[in-house]
Amino acid sequence: MPVTDQKVLLIAGGSGSIGSAIARHALSHGWKVALHGRTAEKVDAAVTGLSYLGEIDGFLADIWEDDAAEMLVAEVAEQYGRIDAVIDCTATGPVGITGLFPETSPEVFGDFLNVSVGWVERLAYASHDFLAQQGGTLIAFVSDAGIYAAPRQALIGAARAGTIGFIRNFAVEAALDGIRAHAISPSYVEGSASAQRMGSERMASAARRAGLGLPTADDIAPLVLFLCNDGAAKITGQVISVNGGLNA
Ligand SMILES: NC(=O)c1ccc[n+]([C@@H]2O[C@H](COP(=O)([O-])OP(=O)(O)OC[C@H]3O[C@@H](n4cnc5c(N)ncnc54)[C@H](OP(=O)(O)O)[C@@H]3O)[C@@H](O)[C@H]2O)c1
Repeated sequence: MPVTDQKVLLIAGGSGSIGSAIARHALSHGWKVALHGRTAEKVDAAVTGLSYLGEIDGFLADIWEDDAAEMLVAEVAEQYGRIDAVIDCTATGPVGITGLFPETSPEVFGDFLNVSVGWVERLAYASHDFLAQQGGTLIAFVSDAGIYAAPRQALIGAARAGTIGFIRNFAVEAALDGIRAHAISPSYVEGSASAQRMGSERMASAARRAGLGLPTADDIAPLVLFLCNDGAAKITGQVISVNGGLNA
């Protein structure tokens, strides 16, 4: 197993809107990037589009599959010999998770909880020893639905609050091994796939309420790099909303 001198950032869900912005930012700052996604064409497109900036490789795994986290981390470690930061940007939203409560589907909630909260937990478990080697960082993307109450968000809010609870408690213990852990919480992100799904009317309404303006993925990516770098060496267990002033 070759061990590279450059720091390695694993981005789960890296082929998505926020993940690919983080990849671009990390490559520009000298990191190697392991970019994960579910769909081969999307991962290939992201890797091809960013490879002019530095070393980036694609990895495939469906997080609904057993052992996906273990296999992904093992493949990345095999390729580079080190993992310095793991960022989870996967978005899992089966039909029936958002919407007015009576319209949601109780039968999908258990599996959804397992795959959203459980995926981050399994990613943390699989990467723990690699992150401990160099003082690494784990960041889980969550959502303001896990912090601030709102209609139509009961199930997604419960899952995101679960991930936040895991990250904060994990952070205290993992600090003893030199690992930092955070949650980053977007709300509405301009230009993202989620913004397209929400539609222009809902995005415009949110934009009117966000005094600083809604963030783009490029407004979020620098925060990730800051938290993974030495300047944030004494910060852990934080939940940071990037929402342009929509919630505080
Ligand atoms: N964008 C927003 O407005 C917003 C707001 C609040 C919170 N967030 C959170 O921020 C994070 C990043 O959001 P985003 O806008 O970048 O999401 P996105 O563009 O939809 O990207 C999601 C990523 O997750 C991957 N993914 C989805 N299902 C998967 C599965 N079963 N197995 C493996 N990978 C899977 C996607 O790959 P494929 O495309 O191949 O499926 C893609 O790489 C998510 O956790 C999201 O919930 C975003």
